[in-house]
Amino acid sequence: MIKLTLMVNGVAKQVICEQDESLANVLRENLGLTSVKIGCATGQCGSCSVIVDGKLVRSCSMKMKRVKEGAVILTTEGIGTPDNLHPIQVSWIANGGAQCGFCTPGFIVSSYALLQSNPSPTREDIRNWFQKYRNACRCTGYKQLVDSVMDAAAVMRGEMPLDDLLFKIPEDGRIWGTKYPRPTGVAKVTGTLDYGADLGIKMPTGTLKCALVQAEVSHAKIISIDTSEAEKMPGVEKIVTHKDVKGKNRITGLITFPTNKGDGWDRPILCDEKVFQYGDALAIVCADSEKNAKAAAAKVKVELERLPEYMNAQAAMSDDAIEIHPGTPNIYYTQKVAKGDETAPIFDDAEVVIEGDYFTTRQPHMPIEPDVGFAYLDDDGKLCIHSKSIGLHLHLYMIAPGLGVEPENLVMVQNPTGGTFGYKFSPTMEALVGAACLATGKPVFLAYDWYQQQTYTGKRSPQFTSVRMAADKEGKLLGMETDWTVDHGPYSEFGDLLTLRGAQFIGAGYDIANIRGEGRTVCTNHAWGAAFRGYGGPEAEFPSEVLMDELAEKLGMDPLELRYKNVYREGSTTPPVVIPRFTPCRDVRHPSSQVRGSQKENGCQFHRRDQARCRHRPRCLWFRS
Ligand code: FES
Ligand code: FES
Repeated sequence: MIKLTLMVNGVAKQVICEQDESLANVLRENLGLTSVKIGCATGQCGSCSVIVDGKLVRSCSMKMKRVKEGAVILTTEGIGTPDNLHPIQVSWIANGGAQCGFCTPGFIVSSYALLQSNPSPTREDIRNWFQKYRNACRCTGYKQLVDSVMDAAAVMRGEMPLDDLLFKIPEDGRIWGTKYPRPTGVAKVTGTLDYGADLGIKMPTGTLKCALVQAEVSHAKIISIDTSEAEKMPGVEKIVTHKDVKGKNRITGLITFPTNKGDGWDRPILCDEKVFQYGDALAIVCADSEKNAKAAAAKVKVELERLPEYMNAQAAMSDDAIEIHPGTPNIYYTQKVAKGDETAPIFDDAEVVIEGDYFTTRQPHMPIEPDVGFAYLDDDGKLCIHSKSIGLHLHLYMIAPGLGVEPENLVMVQNPTGGTFGYKFSPTMEALVGAACLATGKPVFLAYDWYQQQTYTGKRSPQFTSVRMAADKEGKLLGMETDWTVDHGPYSEFGDLLTLRGAQFIGAGYDIANIRGEGRTVCTNHAWGAAFRGYGGPEAEFPSEVLMDELAEKLGMDPLELRYKNVYREGSTTPPVVIPRFTPCRDVRHPSSQVRGSQKENGCQFHRRDQARCRHRPRCLWFRS
């Protein structure tokens, strides 16, 4: 242990800490300065930026043994407060620089340091500074941030009144279309908005800290999980395994379409019989500190029998591949599309035919805020789970049966959340903290580190897509054939819905009279698929747009002219149709909220069973169409 007196935001503070502790943790946990956010914890994202003795540093990477006695430290709390905002903070709000806001305090400190050293930076200077000090933002695209610094610098030089940055309600009182400040703006720019990890520090005494035991192979049978040695480690309260989960220990993937060959109950909360992907959760260690929990997690012994690992769709589709989920074929959902006439004769007769094969990759969401959450039992005995969930009601029903909790006894809460970009449309750790809380009867807290963020959250699913287009010599599209394969990883969550996007969006925007195509969802042992910005759109439109460029080249046409010629217009006689077509019934209580278009006369499943008594009929889009 070391003892230091530091001058933090103008106030002398004594800290006693391990010399190997990071400055970020000491500022957050010893001094309560939670504007210092920890994103990557490896010096790569800048969210933990502070100024130490006049130098901008990433405090997650600075060990306390490098901090000198009497060091002068400035955090966002010392730059401005909600009642007394600094011009940089005002400018950040005015320019929309704080979106999710998780990166914001780090950027404010970084900008402050920049303007101390260079009061008149150019836009390029600002970009270079952020690059040099590794300030990363996943939400804004940086323009707003550069604008913010430029305006703040002008105010600080006395060239612009601060008042110019303050929002004024228009005379007509209309807010829509204005730069009305984000309601959470002040809290975000001052670092006073508590995200999940900040709330975790403020949990009651006795809250257990969790660490995951994760699989280090991609496909295996579990022979045994031995926790005996780990249980003897210091500070350990309990090691939770599948045996402690009272419900069906599965998270449902919410099968969307009845033609899906799986039942959706494919993701274990804690693996019991098999490991399906690298990073799967095998056990949760609950201990008095995160350090002790992690040390004990390393002592859990898992005996496995390795199985073939199918790391892409082609491998999982091969004739000799075993079923990853026994009883469900690896190709568990097929989606066809058909429109107009059969395409084979059209391609035979067409003057121009062009085709291409495309691969769009798996992609991590890379939020600056890692996954984080906690759970506790409230005074009514309800299980309360706080997380980054962006689908609270959905997630409640996805995890309640697995935990063995009645939905009415489960409360889901979204913490202030750093951007998720879609990955939090799937539950990640909600069921894990729920299981740990129920097994221990105590509040529990789990913060992912960057490794866990990469290995136990969903990713954009890779897609293999083949497209053929037929056209006449003038560039009029006559037909399209498509084939696409979605590698959705081992868990079915929304995989069928994602695969539908291929039918909807390959060639979207163009008036193509004749289309035939087929897509499929494939179970593999790579990372599980989750929603991502655009949800299937980029995977579908990238191939057809590239092919349009190639077609233009082949025809010697301008690519824009080719698109303009074929673009879908009002009055086009051939709107895009997906067959089987599904039209959503708006009543979410329907067991299947979809309508199969080929069964027009019958409507959705719910209506088919009892049309006369269906009180939702007026709201079913099918019956309105
Ligand atoms: S650089 Fe410190 S948390 Fe990312
Ligand atoms: S506002 Fe920068 S990461 Fe969200």
